[in-house]
Amino acid sequence: MCAAMPNPPATGLLAVTGVTKSFGGVLALAGCTLSVREGSITGLIGPNGAGKTTLFNVISGLTRADGGEIRLGRERLDGLAAHAIARRGVARTFQIPRPLGRMTVLENLLVYAHDQPGELLARVFATPARVRDAERRARERARLVLESVDLAHLADARADALSGGQKKLLELARALMSDPHIVLLDEPGAGVNPTLMRSLIETIRTLQGAGRTFLLIEHDMDLVTELCDPVIVMAQGKTLVEGPFTEVRRDPRVLEAYLGSAA
Ligand SMILES: Nc1ncnc2c1ncn2[C@@H]1O[C@H](COP(=O)(O)OP(=O)(O)OP(=O)(O)O)[C@@H](O)[C@H]1O
Ligand SMILES: [Mg+2]
Repeated sequence: MCAAMPNPPATGLLAVTGVTKSFGGVLALAGCTLSVREGSITGLIGPNGAGKTTLFNVISGLTRADGGEIRLGRERLDGLAAHAIARRGVARTFQIPRPLGRMTVLENLLVYAHDQPGELLARVFATPARVRDAERRARERARLVLESVDLAHLADARADALSGGQKKLLELARALMSDPHIVLLDEPGAGVNPTLMRSLIETIRTLQGAGRTFLLIEHDMDLVTELCDPVIVMAQGKTLVEGPFTEVRRDPRVLEAYLGSAA
């Protein structure tokens, strides 16, 4: 049997302790506690409706938690606005990619670079030469990021011409533009064909090798097997167990959670 989830406050690069969130009568997060070790690719799995995406929304500041605590290192994230959380090094991707379809792949990343807080104000006071310089640096960074996710050859393609899998890679690229400490990936493998899946797996591994930390929601168990250690299982708004996937998948509590939700 795997380790039961800890009751004392979580530690780790990202530490979530006793987080609650309800939507009307639905308790989406019911005292969720987990921690993500620096440098890991931690998997977050669980049946539909377990609260995984809600947890990402709460960590990234898109939704405010009702209670509990979230820390990145020593810093409290809960209560901060989404842009302040992003600035502290937390990036996330969405379960359904939302690229700006009429723009090119490269422009999608530049928009994100220009969306940083302070950018507009800085431009008002900057000289044209400094604006050009910032523009050039943003473009260079965008090209490097596109290379790192194997999309450089599509830099000038319109985002709405990308396949579902390529849009997922663009989501990852967008998240990487801010050079985050930790990336929250919501089902990166969904709708990705086998060839692109290889590329996605290798990309995430390479990024991990370069010191990046990932928390990754996924239903594709092949991807979880290949990438994630440890794996945390969530059900009904709480974390159930944590451990290597080979052990987690055999845990009776996990089987029960999946079977219960299917029923
Ligand atoms: N904005 C919202 N308003 C009302 N209920 C919500 C909202 N967001 C989530 N929920 C509910 O909260 C619960 C958790 O949903 P969530 O999307 O976090 O699950 P999930 O684990 O990501 O599921 P999936 O694997 O299907 O993506 C569900 O019962 C869902 O219907
Ligand atoms: Mg979800």
